[in-house]
Amino acid sequence: MRVGILTGGGDCPGLNAVLRAAVLAGTQRYGMTFTGFRDGWRGVLERDAVPLDEASVRPLLAVGGTVLGSSRTNPLADGVAEGVARVRASLDALGVEGLLAVGGEDTLGVATALHEAGVPVVGAPKTIDNDLSATDATFGFETAVQTAVEACDRLVTTGASHHRAMVVEVMGRHAGWIALHTGIAAGAHVTLLPEVPVDLDAAAATVAAALSRGDAPLVVVSEGARVLGEDAVRDLPRDAFGHVQLGGAGEQVERELKARVPGLSTRLTVLGHLLRGGTPSAADRVLATRMGLSAVAALARGDVGTMAALRGTEVVQVPLADATGVLRTVPEARWAETSDVVW
Ligand code: F6P
Repeated sequence: MRVGILTGGGDCPGLNAVLRAAVLAGTQRYGMTFTGFRDGWRGVLERDAVPLDEASVRPLLAVGGTVLGSSRTNPLADGVAEGVARVRASLDALGVEGLLAVGGEDTLGVATALHEAGVPVVGAPKTIDNDLSATDATFGFETAVQTAVEACDRLVTTGASHHRAMVVEVMGRHAGWIALHTGIAAGAHVTLLPEVPVDLDAAAATVAAALSRGDAPLVVVSEGARVLGEDAVRDLPRDAFGHVQLGGAGEQVERELKARVPGLSTRLTVLGHLLRGGTPSAADRVLATRMGLSAVAALARGDVGTMAALRGTEVVQVPLADATGVLRTVPEARWAETSDVVW
């Protein structure tokens, strides 16, 4: 079987580890050959492809980003029937008999529509946001949190020297997983998530109390937190999947805290794409590898329309459709576990 692989959407650490595992196991266990599409669905539509063999993927385990490139191209933007026909024509022209789409909500949403139209496709879930339903975790998330926590640990020491509140904005879109885990692991005094209404007066009181105890307040803000009641967005066009570009929540928090705490000195750090770059953590290398193995095994046995998912400690295949459509956000109970303690 010739298998096509693509990586779509925002990149994350672990994408190359999936490619490596899929190609090595697919070649050795099932006699598959592999074609890599450049820049996600763009490469499929434009037949921009490269051969992937064992030698080309073997060095990739620890390499950040994706050697295939990525894009937010939506092949269904001009209509599902037309998009499916174009994808099918490309796959036929290149002799691709099965597809492995590595992506988040958008990429896997396209994969779901292709499967429903009869295209043999499986998925693997990546995203630093950790917001995909049907899997307990996506690879990339753990590394992003680790990077954010290392940054916070550094920021707190300089904050302490200057008796400042350090405000840190993290990515995550409309799911607060990165902010929640960063807040817990870095010992933040205030953590603001998209899922929880923001109480600026309470946040200011917590910051003031921390300062008066002699602590340097750490405030972690998810980019999707609705600080002033709505998304903070940048003045940029929506992407091909209709998403706005979030940005500015940290700035709003900094301003509002200053207005409420007399004499407060603050500094804002927006971690942004730092969280997406660099080498995957050991845990993400393991998860990405296991998911790549599971995805090619599914293709080999014809279990298409499925996605590799972590359930507890096992990697299993679940219906692609279960992974998309509903965003996996932070449930109230997870927030309540830590939110009422003064840290
Ligand atoms: O979905 C991953 C993500 O990094 C989000 O956390 C963030 O909002 C978005 O992508 C940023 O996208 P871009 O790479 O287009 O700036």
